[in-house]
Amino acid sequence: MERPAWAPHGIDISVPSVSRMYDFYLGGSHNFEVDREAARKAMEFMPGLPKIMQANRAFMRRAVRFALDEGVTQFLDIGSGIPTFGNVHEVAQAIDPRAKVAYVDHDPVAVAHSQAVLEGNDRAVIAAADLRRPDEIRDNPDVSKLLDFDRPVALLLVAVLHFIEDADEPHAAVAALRDILAPGSLLIVTHASYEGIPLTREEAGGAVGVYKDIRNPLVMRSRDEVGRFFDGYEMVEPGLVAMPDWRPETPVVQENEDPYAFSGFAGVGRKA
Ligand SMILES: C[S@@+](CC[C@H](N)C(=O)[O-])C[C@H]1O[C@@H](n2cnc3c(N)ncnc32)[C@H](O)[C@@H]1O
Repeated sequence: MERPAWAPHGIDISVPSVSRMYDFYLGGSHNFEVDREAARKAMEFMPGLPKIMQANRAFMRRAVRFALDEGVTQFLDIGSGIPTFGNVHEVAQAIDPRAKVAYVDHDPVAVAHSQAVLEGNDRAVIAAADLRRPDEIRDNPDVSKLLDFDRPVALLLVAVLHFIEDADEPHAAVAALRDILAPGSLLIVTHASYEGIPLTREEAGGAVGVYKDIRNPLVMRSRDEVGRFFDGYEMVEPGLVAMPDWRPETPVVQENEDPYAFSGFAGVGRKA
């Protein structure tokens, strides 16, 4: 298999990666045939997957604007992915050029691309670290140099927690991150769920099986389980809802929307 110049050395390009599959769903070009094949297979079971991703990105951008409206200008985006249109730093720095963004991902392709995109931007960094080891994120020199944890931070865990299995204790990792954040900080989350999907659990299970096969299990959680990530936060209105229903900029007319966009949950919490 030919390795394109942008692919960092050391990565196995014969194994699909969730970040490159996500890039493919969003119409990006940083993916290999192996990623496209896995993504197409998942789409055979859930043809609306790209709609879910688009609704996810749109929510993320509204949440970033909300954070700035709240006066929060520091962002910690964990599981940030391969940069694509409308990244957090682009949205935030277009509104407030002083906004600071620390991206974190454990995928080498996501890290390499973020480095290229962020070159010359002294208010945005990318750190290679793992959400399952929150101490390493806090102690990462690039992150701690850029962000002042004595002041509020908007912590984004967008479409990443559903890749952390229960055995890896995602709720404990999120709680550890909460404990390093100052009062007034925000937690911004989206999470996949069987709730809201316009398919039976068995039908949707086919797509989940694709992720299991590539050893990146997609963990569908219930609304209650997702809600527990917000322990220690007060939910911002309208609470934990379907992605298009979180503070839409124009009224949502459900029958005009793709039903897939209403899969899973989105919410923002504020640390008291
Ligand atoms: C579906 S993408 C989401 C990207 C972006 N947050 C968004 O919503 O547009 C999930 C990202 O999480 C990253 N990821 C998965 N598990 C992770 C972990 N344990 N630590 C850090 N990043 C992780 C993947 O590499 C991938 O880039």
